[in-house]
Amino acid sequence: MSHEIVLTGIKPTGMPHLGNWVGAIRPTVELSRQAERQGFFFIADYHALTGLKDGKQLRRFTYSVAAAWIALGLDPDRIILYRQSDIPEVFELSWILACFSPKGLMNRAHAYKAQVQKNQESGESDLDSGVNMGLYTYPILMAADILVMGTHRVPVGSDQQQHVEIARDLAQYFNRQYGRDIFTLPEALIDPASAVLPGIDGRKMSKSYKNYIPLFDAPDAIKKLIMRIETDSSQPGDPKDPDSSTIFQLYRVLANPAQTESLARAYASGIAWKDAKEELWARFDETFREPTRRYQELMANPAELDKIFAQGADKARAQASRIMTKVRRAVGTR
Ligand code: ADP
Ligand code: TRP
Repeated sequence: MSHEIVLTGIKPTGMPHLGNWVGAIRPTVELSRQAERQGFFFIADYHALTGLKDGKQLRRFTYSVAAAWIALGLDPDRIILYRQSDIPEVFELSWILACFSPKGLMNRAHAYKAQVQKNQESGESDLDSGVNMGLYTYPILMAADILVMGTHRVPVGSDQQQHVEIARDLAQYFNRQYGRDIFTLPEALIDPASAVLPGIDGRKMSKSYKNYIPLFDAPDAIKKLIMRIETDSSQPGDPKDPDSSTIFQLYRVLANPAQTESLARAYASGIAWKDAKEELWARFDETFREPTRRYQELMANPAELDKIFAQGADKARAQASRIMTKVRRAVGTR
């Protein structure tokens, strides 16, 4: 395959929200349309298991994330869309890579360090409290996801950069040991322009703050959330500053430049907060009305998603098994 391989994984831990769309879904869908690249996109369901221990929910989120990505433009006929758990080669490679991972490398990984720090701050005597081995070795499984497909580039948010570097380090240790270029060295692809979107309370939009606007809820529910966006106490007629306004930050990512310009003028001439929110709702509805229909159609028809997963798994396994044949020969299990 002479195309550059681009791969990314999405953890199914909740319903997709506007922040996910801006920071991850939209840029990745754009990337997936570039002809010179072969895209691998997968639902990292076994990564989600490190934290999510409710089978029903994990299953629902797996379908809902896949449906969302397809509804928002990922085309399973052009790219390879699959479920991580459908690729046994990933888990085999994960063990092999674990045998090349210095323990200290995992001690420095940020998801683990964050939990240790949380324990420190709360005065917990066992600093490893709440850390399962899945969380601890999370970067090894992620390295297997990446290396098993011969990935060149990994589009991710900046919080995942360290994990991609770990994958690269492990690939280098392995290649050095066996004296051959078995693994491609992956590089993170981080969009420098990607903005962090605020949620309805003005903090970073995130599932953990419960301040997010879901992409595919009932129109009434979404409109209600938009109407609850926090604003300052300025009155209709008072000039307003777009840059410090959550409504404006959200509007900008949904509107075209002329619309954005026009709302900025309305801010200067004192638009009422309620009217600004109505404008935001109009853009939201326009952007997501058709994708919502497609999303609901897919969610009502899981057999269609199962078929897409099965096709994706076939193609992904064909690629993974080529690489695993070389890996097994190198380590001596074949
Ligand atoms: P959450 O914070 O809601 O749990 P995740 O950590 O699951 O979101 O994020 C999944 C992807 O969406 C990541 O690539 C992340 O960079 C992107 N993302 C999440 N929240 C935002 C946001 N508020 N603005 C921009 N991108 C975001
Ligand atoms: N760890 C990523 C996240 O939390 C998800 C992920 C799993 C991933 N495996 C990957 C991303 C491989 C890129 C490549 O968002």
